Amino acid sequence: MQITKIKVGVNGYGTIGRRVADAVLKQPDMELVGVTKATPDYRIDEAQEKGIKVYSVSGAKPFLDLGYPVEGDLNGMLQQCDIVVDCAPKGKGKENLAIYSSFPKLKAVFQGGEKHELTGFSFNSDCNYEQANGKKLVRVVSCNTTALCRVISTLNTTFQIKKVRATLVRRSADQSDGENSIINTWVPDTGFPSHHSKDVKCLMPGLQITTLAGIAPMTLMHGHMLFIELEKNSMPATVPGVIETLQRNPRILLCSSEKGLTSTAKLKDLFSVSGNGRNGNVYEVCAWKEGIGVDDSGEIGMHLAIDQQADVIPENIDAIRAMCSIADRQQSVALTNRALGIGVLRVREQLPAAPLLSVVANKSYQAAQQSEIK
Ligand SMILES: NC(=O)c1ccc[n+]([C@@H]2O[C@H](COP(=O)([O-])OP(=O)(O)OC[C@H]3O[C@@H](n4cnc5c(N)ncnc54)[C@H](OP(=O)(O)O)[C@@H]3O)[C@@H](O)[C@H]2O)c1
Repeated sequence: MQITKIKVGVNGYGTIGRRVADAVLKQPDMELVGVTKATPDYRIDEAQEKGIKVYSVSGAKPFLDLGYPVEGDLNGMLQQCDIVVDCAPKGKGKENLAIYSSFPKLKAVFQGGEKHELTGFSFNSDCNYEQANGKKLVRVVSCNTTALCRVISTLNTTFQIKKVRATLVRRSADQSDGENSIINTWVPDTGFPSHHSKDVKCLMPGLQITTLAGIAPMTLMHGHMLFIELEKNSMPATVPGVIETLQRNPRILLCSSEKGLTSTAKLKDLFSVSGNGRNGNVYEVCAWKEGIGVDDSGEIGMHLAIDQQADVIPENIDAIRAMCSIADRQQSVALTNRALGIGVLRVREQLPAAPLLSVVANKSYQAAQQSEIK
């Protein structure tokens, strides 16, 4: 029997768009209609080598002048799609939503550079997959917010969290971005709290969270330092208990500095040659085992590393399935993980109590909220 695949278009073939397109190509229940380009450049060669159809955001002439054939324009791509994943530069969402609205059946996923108000619904697979069922417009939250939501909601399945404080050390530029990087300086985001806590609360409204952020001269990954206070009636935290809970989520990778993974550079080095042909993408949020601690008052502390270019990719894929109502959370997360090779390194590490590519043991944040943890 032939499966009807969801027809997906990707508008914007930059840092996130290229990775979303690659991920869509790997899904058994999705078909990539094509991607758009605003500028005729080498990335068209890259797309065409992969057999991806390229459409121009507007006119075809600049593309043809440089010898790049295009399949048509954005509208031509959209009319073939069930859903478009908007990966245009931050702030273009409003303009693009007006274009998408002229296709009455078209659904659209936006990225974290857009405001929550654009779609009225912000998404994370661990927090609110079920609520995205059938929605027409969804925003996948930013890389930092995705990491915070993933880790906090996972811990919340065992512990009752009272308050989170997080310090975010952000990369100044992506690896392909030659214009925005900084050298030899620290640029604090002087707004207090940083916007990340407001974003997390879009998904976990009852959570007390405060965040501070700044930009550091690096391109590889973001770093977070997290402090988590528990409710008095929560199961008390122990280091093995925290590790075991985090391990239940295949999208969190427990890494070990004892084994030489002492920095984000080492993590990226590992994934550049390992991880099932992922082209260096670290879809998992990484937590250092040796960096997890519980202080005398029972407060948990930990360090995280986040590949800003990659952790939102599985969330985009899950958002598509949820919006098109073709899989429940467990099915979608398992399918996405298998297609992207998420969980492979954990299996190789053979840590105790780590279910093979499975999320069965991992209740969603919502389910955890509803069941009392004693
Ligand atoms: N980079 C990250 O770390 C990261 C992480 C999570 C979320 N996000 C969010 O993801 C979104 C995309 O960010 P990005 O980092 O992928 O940006 P990016 O690397 O600058 O890519 C954006 C792409 O959009 C294309 N574009 C320009 N104008 C367009 C238009 N009018 N319509 C459609 N496409 C257009 C550009 O194409 P050409 O190359 O053809 O000019 C560019 O390659 C933003 O909301 C951002 O906040 C980014």
